[in-house]
Amino acid sequence: MISRIQEDAVSVVQSGFEKMIEQQVVIAPWLAVSHGEKRISDNQKRRLRQFAQELSLSDEEVKVLWLDSRPLNPVTRERAYYETLLSTAAYLSYMRLGTLVVTDEMISVSNSLLRQYLHENGGSALTSVYGRVMTYLNAQVLRYYGRLQEDIFISGQWHRPWIDHPIDSELETALQYELVQRVQSDGQTYIELTNQGEELYQACRDDLQKCGYIQQSEQLMRIANFTSMDDYEQMMERAMADIQIHRNTLVQSSDIKPSMKVLELGCGAGALTFKGGLFQTVGTNGQLIATDPAPGMLERARNRQSSYGAENVQFQQAAAEKIPFSGSTFDAVIGMFFLQFTNVPQALKEITRVLRPNGTFTTLVGLGYSHQEEFLKEWFEPLSTKGLTAESSVNLPDENLLPSIAGEYFSTYDCETQEWLFDFSQIEDVVKFNVQAGAMADLNGLPWAARNELFEELIERGYKIKAKYGADAMKHVHKVQLFKGTVTK
Ligand SMILES: C[S@@+](CC[C@H](N)C(=O)[O-])C[C@H]1O[C@@H](n2cnc3c(N)ncnc32)[C@H](O)[C@@H]1O
Repeated sequence: MISRIQEDAVSVVQSGFEKMIEQQVVIAPWLAVSHGEKRISDNQKRRLRQFAQELSLSDEEVKVLWLDSRPLNPVTRERAYYETLLSTAAYLSYMRLGTLVVTDEMISVSNSLLRQYLHENGGSALTSVYGRVMTYLNAQVLRYYGRLQEDIFISGQWHRPWIDHPIDSELETALQYELVQRVQSDGQTYIELTNQGEELYQACRDDLQKCGYIQQSEQLMRIANFTSMDDYEQMMERAMADIQIHRNTLVQSSDIKPSMKVLELGCGAGALTFKGGLFQTVGTNGQLIATDPAPGMLERARNRQSSYGAENVQFQQAAAEKIPFSGSTFDAVIGMFFLQFTNVPQALKEITRVLRPNGTFTTLVGLGYSHQEEFLKEWFEPLSTKGLTAESSVNLPDENLLPSIAGEYFSTYDCETQEWLFDFSQIEDVVKFNVQAGAMADLNGLPWAARNELFEELIERGYKIKAKYGADAMKHVHKVQLFKGTVTK
C-alpha cells in the first residue's frame, strides 16, 4: 500500500498545488496564530466552520488520492476545508489589506475562492495536498520529540495550535496504516513514528519541496515576520552606528540623478527611501516607485511620507520576483538588504527586464552567516546541534553567488565584498531578527512549539553569554556585498 502511495503522490500534489497558487487558495493556517497573538475571533471561526460544513455537503466522493481508494469520512473532509478556509482568510487579509488580523470581508472572499477551486478541480485535488501537508506536520512533531503523549498529539497544541478540533481520526488512519504506534510507559500512552511513518515523512517533505509548498511557506512566514516587525529600522540602528553612512553610500554609488524614473525594491519602512536620501536625489521632477511585498512595512513607509514632504513617492506592494511593470520602464532599480530574501536568479531576471538600455541596478546584499566569533558559536550552538544550519544559512547567498551569475543578466558589473561590524549585545533584537525572521536558520523543519522553545532558549543563552563575555566583546563581523550592474540590451 505504502509504495503505491509514494509513486502516485508527486503529480497529484503538484497539480493540486499549482491550481491553489493560481486561485489564491492556501494551506498556511499558522498565519492565524503567528507571533502569539489572537488574530481571529470565535465568531469568525464559527462562520468558517459553517462555510466548511456547507462546502462538504456536495455528493462528490472526496479522497486523498495518494492514500486510499475509499472516500474520506465527512468529518475529516470538513476539517480539511476549515483549515484551508482559515488559511486563505488569514493570507488574503494580510496580502490584500495589510493586516495579520483576519477580517470578515476576507472570510467571505476565502469562501468564494475555495468554492470556485472545489468546483473546478474537485475536492480530491485539495485534500490530496492537505493530506500531504498534515502528514508532514504530524510526523514532524513525533520525529522531533521522539514520542508524544497521545492526548497532546490529538489536541494538536504542540504542532497545530490553530485548530480547536481533536485530530483523533487522523491518528486512527495513521495507526491503521502502521505509520505510528502506541507505546505504554509510566502509566501513560505515547504515540511514536514507525519506520514506515519515517519513510512517508521523507516522501512528503520531498514532494512538498518539489511542488514549491515549502518555499511558499518560508516566504509567507518571512513576510508575516516583517509585517509584524515594527522596529526593524531601530534594531538596525542599535546594532550598527554607521548604518546611515551605508544608506547614503548606496544611493551615491547608484548614480541616480534628479528627474530619473526609479524603482526601489524591498523598501521596508522606507529607511533608504527617506533617511538614505533616495527620494531627495530623485527629486520632484523624477519619479520614485518604492515597493515591498509586506503590507505592514508599506503602511509604515506611507505613514512617514508627509513628514518628509515626499508625497510624490508612490508605494506599491510587489515582490522582486514578479515586478508589476512592463519591460524597459526604469532608468534605475535600487534596494537595500532585500535580495538575500528572494529567489536571486528570478529577481535578477525581473530587474533586468524592467530596466531601460543603460539602466543600472544597485544594491547591498547581506551574505550568509559564518560564526567565527567564539561568543556567537556558543550562543547559537542549539541551532547547529538541531541541524538548523547556524553556520551559513540556507536562505542567504554566499560570497560567490552574485559574481557567478551576474554576467548572465548584466553587460557590466562590480561586486565588492565588505565586512561590517555589528553590535550583537542587544539579545532580543538579535534573536528576533536573525532567527525568527529566518536570516540565520531554517526553522521550517521544526514543529510550532519547538520554534517557540528555541527562541526562548536562545534569549536565555544570550543573556548568559553577555554576562560571560561582556557587551563590549559581542561584536560580529558580517559580510555584505555592494553590487552595481548595468544592462545595455
Ligand atoms: C531587511 S528589510 C530591509 C528594508 C529596507 N530596505 C531597509 O534597509 O530598512 C528586508 C525587506 O525585504 C522585503 N522582502 C522580503 N521578501 C522580498 C521579495 N521577495 N522581494 C522584495 N522584497 C522582499 C521584506 O518585506 C523587508 O521589508
